[in-house]
Amino acid sequence: MVRAFAPGKCILFGEHAVVYGHPAVAVAIEAGVEVRLEESERWVLDGMNFEPSRHPHIKHIITNVFEYDGSPLKIDINSTLFPAAGLGSSAALSNAMGAALQELIDPSGTVDAIKLARISHSAEAIAQEGRASPTDTAASALGGSVVVSGERLKGINHRFDAELITPEGERNWSIHSAELHPNLAEAWLVLGFTGKGSPTGKMVAGVADLLEKEPAHKEDMLAIANITNAGLAALAAGNLPAVGIAMDACHKRLQNIQVSSPALDLLVNSARPHSFGAKLTGAGGGGCMVALTNNPKRVAEAIEIAGGKPLISRFGTEGVRLID
Ligand code: MEV
Repeated sequence: MVRAFAPGKCILFGEHAVVYGHPAVAVAIEAGVEVRLEESERWVLDGMNFEPSRHPHIKHIITNVFEYDGSPLKIDINSTLFPAAGLGSSAALSNAMGAALQELIDPSGTVDAIKLARISHSAEAIAQEGRASPTDTAASALGGSVVVSGERLKGINHRFDAELITPEGERNWSIHSAELHPNLAEAWLVLGFTGKGSPTGKMVAGVADLLEKEPAHKEDMLAIANITNAGLAALAAGNLPAVGIAMDACHKRLQNIQVSSPALDLLVNSARPHSFGAKLTGAGGGGCMVALTNNPKRVAEAIEIAGGKPLISRFGTEGVRLID
């Protein structure tokens, strides 16, 4: 039997804009997805017959990526992430599945995080109708804090490049790992789930439509890019209040491109009095918001009172790994 775990992620800055080559910053969080694989007499997923068409990410990894033709597998998935909530559950699933299957086929006791990030990005691209940045998959595979950008950035550790043909043309991204300033050890992320899942592909397609019908919204994308750069500088300096201001500003622009919702706004507003800043995170439409705070219990209570489900996490945890 082989087991692998991959963390979820939280985008601090740049969601949606990153699909168009603008920069984004994401960190791995403590919650994630564990996949257990063992050979079996028949194909089973979580105790039921495995139906590949219902699990496109898993199907893609088994069939297209690894071209697996060995014995049937018993697949068990255990997730501590809210599903379809903007926390990268599908990226974490793809990474953990890829790591476990690689180990089952060719045991080495190690994972190749960059190879897994690439595999999982290809799975996301299929699920998101060709419009997927490598942000979620890279944060979950590499762990820590990743910066994804349309160009190579100086003064930061470049890890790999990714490319994709999207309906709007070819996109290229450079993926970097950023050092986390020691001040961030005093801060926590509190995620607040609205209780409503939201498919990323639909949200990304909605933004593409909006930009086509109302090109003036490209201004919001450029503003998100500027805010992301300011947020990145604040993160590098360990300036938590400045990170928070940038998060608030990012939320405003995400509202402008119509990916927030009354439930997200309510949770964001409930968290702000006890936080450095708060914004929606991920695709929006439902899903989660995130607050940066040094008072995580207070923020979690405020989110709960406002009707959300809180999840407290440290910053930038370890990426995909095998479990003994
Ligand atoms: C989803 O977590 C982040 C988006 O920017 C989509 C993507 O980057 O592929 C909305």
